[in-house]
Amino acid sequence: MKVNTKSKKVNKAWLNSHVNDPYVKAAQKDGYRARAAYKLKEIDEQLKLIRPGATVVDLGSTPGAWSQYVRRCLSPEGAAVGALNGRIISLDLLPMEPIEGVQFILGDFREEPVLAQLQEALGGGKADVVVSDMAPNLSGNGTTDAARIALLVELAVDFSIHHMKPEGALVVKLFHGGAYDDLVALFRQTFKVVKPIKPKSSRDKSSETFLVGMGLK
Ligand SMILES: C[S@@+](CC[C@H](N)C(=O)[O-])C[C@H]1O[C@@H](n2cnc3c(N)ncnc32)[C@H](O)[C@@H]1O
Repeated sequence: MKVNTKSKKVNKAWLNSHVNDPYVKAAQKDGYRARAAYKLKEIDEQLKLIRPGATVVDLGSTPGAWSQYVRRCLSPEGAAVGALNGRIISLDLLPMEPIEGVQFILGDFREEPVLAQLQEALGGGKADVVVSDMAPNLSGNGTTDAARIALLVELAVDFSIHHMKPEGALVVKLFHGGAYDDLVALFRQTFKVVKPIKPKSSRDKSSETFLVGMGLK
């Protein structure tokens, strides 16, 4: 499909590649809100992280594609609605359109009162899986951006240490360059098994990648 637009603000090359992207097409066909769903799907199919009955925390969940994927994994029939065998608690700075059975918290993961809400939602229990696709708004300043990305990953690791079951798993998005090596080292200190994964659905040109930590040390 060729995209015609008069707006100078829209990058036509990006728009053309987006519209013709097989994962964008698949997301439309499968009813996912974003192509991001396939990144978590690939990671999960490789490592079998999300099992029936699980409690899953989804950090940086808006617009909701990862939560939709998790919801289908926890549904006895893989359905987008109806019975749910497990719990999903999702959190984002931005509002998210409701997903049946998903408890959503609006707030900044870096803020103590928001963490307290998340803790309350867990009701004294612990998560089986924590996934974080959080990405900060980039300033363009490499050092500042690397520090912002690292902070979100470090907070997700800290959250997992306190609120995830010992045999649980944490999936985080991060970026090559910046503090990548330090964050891998943090994962190796914290988890028994650490797997770096670049899903096929993550665009080649992007320095985005994912780290999975399994089993707390
Ligand atoms: C790439 S999007 C997530 C896409 C989502 N996984 C999906 O499948 O639809 C990144 C999200 O991280 C959120 N985010 C960034 N910093 C955050 C923070 N400090 N607390 C909560 N959410 C944050 C953004 O608002 C944004 O919605």
